[in-house]
Amino acid sequence: MTANAEWEEYFDHFVPPSTLQHNQKAVQDFASANRQIGHDLVLITSGGTTVPLENNTVRFVDNFSVGSRGSSSAEYFLERGYAVIFLHRHRSLQPFSRHFAKDNFLEYLHLEQDLDGSEKVAVKTEMSPKLLEVLKKYEEVKASGRLLLMVFTTVSDYLFNLRAFAEALHPFGPHAMFYLAAAVSDFYVPSSQMAKHKIRSSNGPLELKLQQTPKLLSPLVKDWATDAFVVSFKLETNKDIIAACAREALDKYKHQVVISNVLATRRKQVTLVTKTEEKMLSLSDHEFHMGIDVEQKIVDELLKHHKVFIQEKQPSRR
Ligand code: PMT
Repeated sequence: MTANAEWEEYFDHFVPPSTLQHNQKAVQDFASANRQIGHDLVLITSGGTTVPLENNTVRFVDNFSVGSRGSSSAEYFLERGYAVIFLHRHRSLQPFSRHFAKDNFLEYLHLEQDLDGSEKVAVKTEMSPKLLEVLKKYEEVKASGRLLLMVFTTVSDYLFNLRAFAEALHPFGPHAMFYLAAAVSDFYVPSSQMAKHKIRSSNGPLELKLQQTPKLLSPLVKDWATDAFVVSFKLETNKDIIAACAREALDKYKHQVVISNVLATRRKQVTLVTKTEEKMLSLSDHEFHMGIDVEQKIVDELLKHHKVFIQEKQPSRR
């Protein structure tokens, strides 16, 4: 079966999200407005996809990804002047608010008495500097209109959205980057084979046969986003095979960059693999303890590659 036929078959198994057309138009408008004022574009995918087991979903298969990589990277792309479409898993980490995700937000606040004796909510003095720093950046980004948040939950929602957004970004050629940090399920249950209602445990043990999700990188590079700059991630748990897996992905899909990471060390170290080089980016213990994000290094390195890519695709505009 050709890659295209495989994809048509995959999409035939699912109903598209009801917001798909509306979201595609929002991406189109966002991208046009930002390109008109010279901003380059990046579509970041972030978080894990779910695989529902029932049509009226109670249970699903999920994965570990919480969206740290994607949400942190979004902030650095914004800082460097990019317009960001942030396609993320519902309730996973988002740029800016991620800084407070581990905290109980009530601990940031206390009650104060107003002059008239009524009670009001105020921020604790010691919490103010961190809030102020993040809030200022967030407000600036909001006012600049350079951040568009889009949401998915299931693997099919993710794939429908990714295809629609790739089509919307196609007119912007090399100025659009795809930064595929989401952890996408390689397996799914076709909706025709799903139980309609909650699977009953009284029926005994559950046997599942999951179908294999076709690789999205193939149509993305060949059909959906032919002129864009595509960055995929490769995750393994075995550090001995990661380099070969990343190189294999690049050779197979022929996109621009693979960023390889090992689950246990992913916050401190990644390797950026292109056709001609392999570059390890890592944080020293000191940098890590100072709260520096490895994503800052990833984004800075990628921007150099993206700039060259744009120049090569549009030599007359140099
Ligand atoms: O969110 P965090 O907790 O911060 O974690 C970040 C991360 C580890 C999830 C991220 O850095 C990362 O590695 N994301 C990619 C994880 C992944 O899906 O790896 P993979 O080796 O299974 O897939 C490799 C590539 O193939 C991915 O870019 C994916 O987009 C692509 N893929 C996956 C499934 C599929 N059906 N088709 C694909 O093309």
